[in-house]
Order: sequence, then C-alpha cells, then structure tokens
Amino acid sequence: MRQSTLHLHTAFVVDRVDPRIFGGFLEHLGRAVYEGVYDPQSPHADESGCRRDVLEALRELRFTAMRYPGGNFVSGYHWLDAVGPKEKRPRTRDLAWQSIETNQFGPNEFLSLCARMDWTPMLAVNLGTGTPEEARNWLEYCNIEGGSKWADLRREHGYEQPWHVRLWCLGNEMDGPWQIGHVPAEVYAVNAQQTANMMRMCDPKLELVACGSCAIDMPTYLVWDRTVLAHCRESIDYLSVHRYVGNEANDTENFLAVSNSIDAQIEATDAVCAEVFHALRMKKRVRISFDEWNVWYKARGPEHHDGRGKVAPHLLEEVYNLEDALVAAEFLNSFIRHADSVKIANLAQIVNVIAPILTDGDRMVRQTIFHPIALMAKRRDGVALRTSVEGPVYESRDYGSVPYVDSSAILNGRELSVFVVNRSLDRPLELSVRVGDRQVEELLSAEIVTGSDPKEANTFDEPERIVARPFEDACVKGGSASLVLPPLSFVAATVRLS
Ligand code: AHR
Repeated sequence: MRQSTLHLHTAFVVDRVDPRIFGGFLEHLGRAVYEGVYDPQSPHADESGCRRDVLEALRELRFTAMRYPGGNFVSGYHWLDAVGPKEKRPRTRDLAWQSIETNQFGPNEFLSLCARMDWTPMLAVNLGTGTPEEARNWLEYCNIEGGSKWADLRREHGYEQPWHVRLWCLGNEMDGPWQIGHVPAEVYAVNAQQTANMMRMCDPKLELVACGSCAIDMPTYLVWDRTVLAHCRESIDYLSVHRYVGNEANDTENFLAVSNSIDAQIEATDAVCAEVFHALRMKKRVRISFDEWNVWYKARGPEHHDGRGKVAPHLLEEVYNLEDALVAAEFLNSFIRHADSVKIANLAQIVNVIAPILTDGDRMVRQTIFHPIALMAKRRDGVALRTSVEGPVYESRDYGSVPYVDSSAILNGRELSVFVVNRSLDRPLELSVRVGDRQVEELLSAEIVTGSDPKEANTFDEPERIVARPFEDACVKGGSASLVLPPLSFVAATVRLS
C-alpha cells in the first residue's frame, strides 16, 4: 500500500481561519432565487415564501458571508426596482442572462433571510450601469437609522431598523469583456475609488472588496490587479479573485492536481498585494476575497447562458460527481492553507445554479459537492497549521507534480481536524498524521466521502449514491493517527492532542 506522512506542528500556525471562507453566493440567475430559495407556490414554502427544505439543507453547510445579488446580473441591477410593495415592483429585463427579473425577491427579502440563516450579508453594487451615487444611496437605505431620504424610504417600506451591512463588493468582474459596463483597469479603478469614498462618507464602518482579475487566462491577469490596487489602495480592504475549474479533457488525475494552480493563483495575487503594499508604503495590506469558486464546465455554452426572456430559466445547472466533490474539498484546503491571505471565499453558488443543492418541483437533492463542504464547515473553527506531506507524488499533465494526498489542518485548542484527499484513482494510501510537538491521544470523529467511479453523481431518484459516511479505517497508534484512505476519497477527521 502507498504510504504518506502528514507532518504538523502546533507552533507552525498560518493564521486564524476566517469563518468567512465558508461563504456562499446567491445571484439572480436561472433558478437560484426563484424556484431555489424563494418559491411561494411550493408546498415547502414558509410564511416568507422561502423553501423550508432548501433552507434546512443550506443550514448544514453553515454558510457565513453570503454574496448577493450578482455576479454578472449586478452590472445592470437597480436596487430601487426591488424594494417597496411587491405589487408595484417592475418586471425588468436582465441582459446578463437574457432573463426577466420580477423583483419579487429583493434586498430586504435577502437581508431578512440572512438574519434568519445567520449569514453575513455581502452586497455587490452595480458599477456597470450604476453610479457611485446609486451605490451610496443603497448603503444609506440599508445602514442609516433614519432622518434622511433613503433611510426613511426603508422605514416606509416596513423595515424600522437598519441592516448594518458591513461587507460590500465594488462591482463584479469588471475586467471581463462580457461584463455590462466593462472598462479598462484605470477607469474601473477611479470609479471604484470614488464609490468607495462616497460609501465611506456615508458609513465609515465598511469593509470593501474591489474587483481583481476574474480568471487566470485573462490577458490582463495581475496587471489589472496592480492598477486597481495602486489607485484604490487606501479605500479598499480586499481584492477579489474568482476561479472556475473543469475536467474538459476527461483526465481525472490531472483534474485532481488543479489545487497546484489554485494555490499559485492565490500566491500570485497575494504577491501583487504585497508588492503594492511595500512599494507604495500603504498603511494596511489588502487581502483576498475569493468570492466565486467552484467546478463549472459541463453546463456552459449558449443554451446554459441564455434565458430566452423567461423568468427563472434553467441555466448553469451543473450536475456534480465524485471527482468534482474532491476538487471542492481541494479548493477549501487551499483556502485554509492560505489562511493568512484569503479572508473571504464564496462557493458559487448555493442552489440550482452551479450549486450543492438542486430542486425539481417539490423535490430536492444534495449534490456530491455538498458533502465535503458540510464536513469541513462543521470543523472550521481554529487556526490553520502549515502542512507538509512526505510521500509519493505524480506528474500531472497541466499542473506539475503533486503528492497523492492533498491536505489542510485546523487546530482548535487541543482538537486537531485534518482534511485529506487521496487523489489516486485505484490505490489506497495509508496516511500517518504526526504532530511534532504533541501526541495524538484519541480519535474523536472521522467521516468519508468516496465511491468507486469518479463520474458517479446523486440524482433525484438516487440521492444518496455519494454521501458522507462514518470512516472506520482510522486509529491512533504510537502517538500519531493512521488513516487508510481508499482511492478517490475525502476524509475529515478530528483527533485530541496531548
Ligand atoms: O457564477 C456565475 C457567473 O460567473 C457570475 O455571474 C459571474 O460573476 C461569473 O462569471
């Protein structure tokens, strides 16, 4: 059997794991909002029109920061259309996804949902067709008690108390030519800076995210970031990073090595943040908001992107399989390994659209990616430890050499959680977890997500093909933990240290 050792030391702390790396993203796109979280016609609907079954499943994922309302959608969105009496809200044409938006679910419905679900709202303002003033008005509507036009309008709409939204994104993917209102970096940077300044004048207690490069294959990758940072440096707190990955070549071993490239993307963006920080003698260093991430390559192309003028069309309904679930775990492993630079990360998205949950009429299914995320989310508190894996590696086609084991570790007092993926397609691997300065005393819990076929997926008829199950092949011996990982598996295990 292959053998590897995961070496850890409790003094080798990367940083506290910001709980906001377990964030989500809800866009007005396809059936994410309508028929997803909000469906007043559904037998599952509660008094607010939200689907109870969907919310219950979302709770298991323990989302923190929830980004809304887009995405590409936000670059043509006017928040004022979606507040006030529902019968007076206009139907609007969404050009990003060629759909009709009914505006029956808007900012107040979203913020009420955040309060119920214990999500931290992360609102994106429209810097495509919108103005800095429209953004600042929305902020006043949300955050100011009353006594001025927009704050009073919120009260008129039945929301006496301000929402106190702290986290705001200054537009979405403005480096992408597909984005409504896409402009060169210098133009975006000036606009973002002015918006940030106006917003801070209205409410100084904000955390602001500027658009960074939205993909590593953009011609402006990192150059855009440097320009935005140089202009906006003291006005922003985070720079966004987005990443969607796929197994287009149908090469599973190669796909499972993609974490090398995710690590590299984070490290390159962080290096630009560091460079600008030092070169321009900034007061504080800008950190990363990895605010869109997922596997997404099957539900792509015109038939998945064009809503053909419908309300809630079927768009981007990616079906996830076992290999996708392992890659989802690798994304989170990478964020944990980079806990010092990645402070926010949002799974894109949460329901129906490239999502861990799919609905079909009254039915709902938890997709494969749901399970590793849930297992990690319940063990997320603590500090990230540096990981070093000793053992066999393989050469991947696109991403260089990787160990068979992908890993991360979180220490919470004396409880240590490790998250490991065995990338091998056909061979089990015995992993010894050693903590240099401590003894592993006791195994507290261990769960596994695995299957025999990388393409295996859950369906509405067979929703439990790939789920989390108790992991039996774990034990403590000689002061370390031993895990026998089957091929194509993800294990989350928690042990108590001396
Ligand atoms: O999440 C789907 C889309 O992907 C978002 O609207 C956009 O920001 C990204 O390109």
